[in-house]
Amino acid sequence: MCGIVAYVGQKDAYPILINGLRRLEYRGYDSAGVALLTDQINLYKCRGKVADLEEYIADKNTGGTIGIAHTRWATHGEPNDENAHPHFSRDRDIALIHNGIIENYAVLKKELVSRGYVFQSNTDTEVLVHLIEDIRENENVELDEAVRIALTQVEGTYAIVVISKNHPDSLIAARNGSPLVIGVGEGEYYVASDGAPLVEYTKNVIYLDNEDIAYISLKDDIKIKSINNIERTPYIDQLEMSITQLEKGGFEHFMLKEIYEQPKSIADSMRGRLNVAKEIVSLGGIIEYEEKMLNAPRFTMVACGTSWHACLVGEYIFEELVRIPVEVEYASEFRYRNPIINEKDIVIAISQSGETADTLAAIGLAKENGATVIGICNVVGSSIARATHAGSYTHAGPEIGVASTKAFTAQVTLLLLMALSLAKKKGTISRSRYHEIIIALENIPRQIEEVLSHEKLIKEIADRFSDAKNFLYLGRGYNFPVALEGALKLKEISYIHAEGYPAAEMKHGPIALIDEEMPVVVIATNKGTYDKVVSNIQEVKARKGKIIAIVTKGDETVKSLADYVIEIPETEEMLVPLLATVPLQLLSYHIALNRGCNVDQPRNLAKSVTVE
Ligand code: G6P
Repeated sequence: MCGIVAYVGQKDAYPILINGLRRLEYRGYDSAGVALLTDQINLYKCRGKVADLEEYIADKNTGGTIGIAHTRWATHGEPNDENAHPHFSRDRDIALIHNGIIENYAVLKKELVSRGYVFQSNTDTEVLVHLIEDIRENENVELDEAVRIALTQVEGTYAIVVISKNHPDSLIAARNGSPLVIGVGEGEYYVASDGAPLVEYTKNVIYLDNEDIAYISLKDDIKIKSINNIERTPYIDQLEMSITQLEKGGFEHFMLKEIYEQPKSIADSMRGRLNVAKEIVSLGGIIEYEEKMLNAPRFTMVACGTSWHACLVGEYIFEELVRIPVEVEYASEFRYRNPIINEKDIVIAISQSGETADTLAAIGLAKENGATVIGICNVVGSSIARATHAGSYTHAGPEIGVASTKAFTAQVTLLLLMALSLAKKKGTISRSRYHEIIIALENIPRQIEEVLSHEKLIKEIADRFSDAKNFLYLGRGYNFPVALEGALKLKEISYIHAEGYPAAEMKHGPIALIDEEMPVVVIATNKGTYDKVVSNIQEVKARKGKIIAIVTKGDETVKSLADYVIEIPETEEMLVPLLATVPLQLLSYHIALNRGCNVDQPRNLAKSVTVE
């Protein structure tokens, strides 16, 4: 969603803000803006990317040591100059940036319009800035109190930062539902949607909680109060991030870098948790909850997007190893359908960003019903990580490309580790089987290196199919979620329509689509159902579909049938998703590149979806 960055200190604010926006651009990229405070507020904003904003500002006054900046992903109001943030109050004394949705904005707007306020934009955000001004004038209160009162009238989610001409050394920041973190430097403060804009200046951070309002002033330091005016002592955390993680490191795109990082990110996910020599798998974050997990009647896994695909792999792994039933739910469905959940249930919430609004709400619902919620998140200190009872970080490092790659394989790795640890305690896995799987897991990073070495071949396949209108992805068992994930990657970044299907289901519909124009990607590595997948390939071939097969190294049968084959090394069936997803990521990447698409920032998508 939108990205927020703000600064107050002694340095020139503009370079810090622009740099911060560049680091946050993956969160939203349809418009951007900045407001800088000197003896007045200079506000510049325009439709387009951060680079467009920089160009627009090139000849403008960018002085000032305090400022706010924003990169937008449109919710209310189309992406245009007017709807870009920041927004001004009527008297141009206050400027505000916002991430989230003000749900009751229509009612508030009507009231403000009736009092003579003229709106410059179609955004829900502008309501808030006028409301603050209105309260300040009519209730004759200071700006900080006006912000607090305004927020008590708002329904919905927000992360905001406010500056005012009359408070030249202060920022007011508040959050409810959308993330906000304060960076504490030497005589200076930063505010941002996540740690990325802060990391090169300070590692000391304060994560705001829901309904926190932070009054940041160079004179009086930071005061954090709740929306109900109760003060709390700020707790300083350490940011776990480095600048090199936020740069492309010689790759053309973040997505490609992140695909290539997978041997390392998976090794990082396993570090300190998998000890093959001692035959130990242990996730420190959930140890205290394992007993409870083992006594649960079932697990419910909730997530969105790619993380939901990881849940599907998790379902198969948990049911095979732990022998406890698993249900996988889209968080957005779960939260609205009155699910049967009680205090014995375990809900496992998976999220790369740790900020997805629907997943957060699903966690809230599960907790209300007494369930224990275990999180698997990538972003340390994120809202989901803090909302869950316990959990484990994937430690995949920052993922900047909007299409998720290394986060997915890290999530699957974590689910495997969790299931192995539980299965051993429950006695549902034999020692030899446990041993085989952990040895195979230890080999995965090296095997991914091998898969990555096929990039040239994958690029050739991409060149052949870049003009396709549709793609079908087929897989069975553990490879069914891989098919879904492969299709999602292609849709997300190349805008080609693609569907993932369980291979055997093809007969019940998608087969009607197959003709000589249709590329069909088949993940044909399964041992148990190999013959059946070969039959599915025959069925596609009989209808002249073009087959791109992912096969186990040395496979000759599929090779003789398929138009193209990409080999992956042999591993345990439940680990295949960790290998088979990688060529599909590369295939989508090269197709998108051939089609001239913006791989890292695909249209209409956002990296972290903090609105419902
Ligand atoms: C967005 C992203 C996807 C991601 C999904 C869930 O749609 O573009 O890449 O899979 O949100 O995000 P999460 O951060 O909860 O994993």
